[in-house]
Amino acid sequence: MVKNIYPVFDRIYDRKVKEEILRQSAKVIWFTGLSGSGKTTLASNLEKELFFRRFFCQVLDGDNIRSGINNNLGFTEVDRLENIRRISEVSKLLINTGMITICSFISPTEEIRQLARSIIGEKDFIEIFLNPPLEVCEKRDTKGLYKKARAGEIKDFTGISSPFEAPAHPDLEIDTSVTSIRDSVELIFNVIIDRITL
Ligand code: ADX
Repeated sequence: MVKNIYPVFDRIYDRKVKEEILRQSAKVIWFTGLSGSGKTTLASNLEKELFFRRFFCQVLDGDNIRSGINNNLGFTEVDRLENIRRISEVSKLLINTGMITICSFISPTEEIRQLARSIIGEKDFIEIFLNPPLEVCEKRDTKGLYKKARAGEIKDFTGISSPFEAPAHPDLEIDTSVTSIRDSVELIFNVIIDRITL
């Protein structure tokens, strides 16, 4: 509960003015999926594509955020919720500057994603679910974490010893084990273009 705090929003330049200057409609593009599902790769490729088309955007990514603003959080349910709560508040600040914000976090449960959606706001939240089979993520094992999780060296590891719930109604679902990076970026771009255009 927030006590003795009086936030002021009306004296700050309106988001609309900023969106007009940037000639875009700010949105959060939220990637969810297992570790190794391609979130970071697609987030950075999408950012490149958007910059190429003169959209202004910012990527927020799990490992970066967890080494800075959220470096005091682990992977219990409570910590994951707090991780996403803070990221969602930061995303909201960013979209109020007119920025298209690309978020790349496992965000493994409906409750966690619902929290993000409710902080950011339904109309500004675009959910993209990367859904390659767990075996493919595990085989990729780019950071060697699945191996450690199987060996019991990492506890609460998503997909191995901690749950991942598939989102019920994502705006887009991509199986990155069969869809190339290029095709995935094109699919995403086609889903978001009308919503990020003023
Ligand atoms: S989330 O569940 O809270 O959304 P987030 O996306 O921020 O997770 O961080 C996931 C990254 O942390 C993974 O890509 C991986 O590199 C690292 N990591 C370390 N321990 C774990 C773990 N127990 N479960 C999942 N990811 C972990």
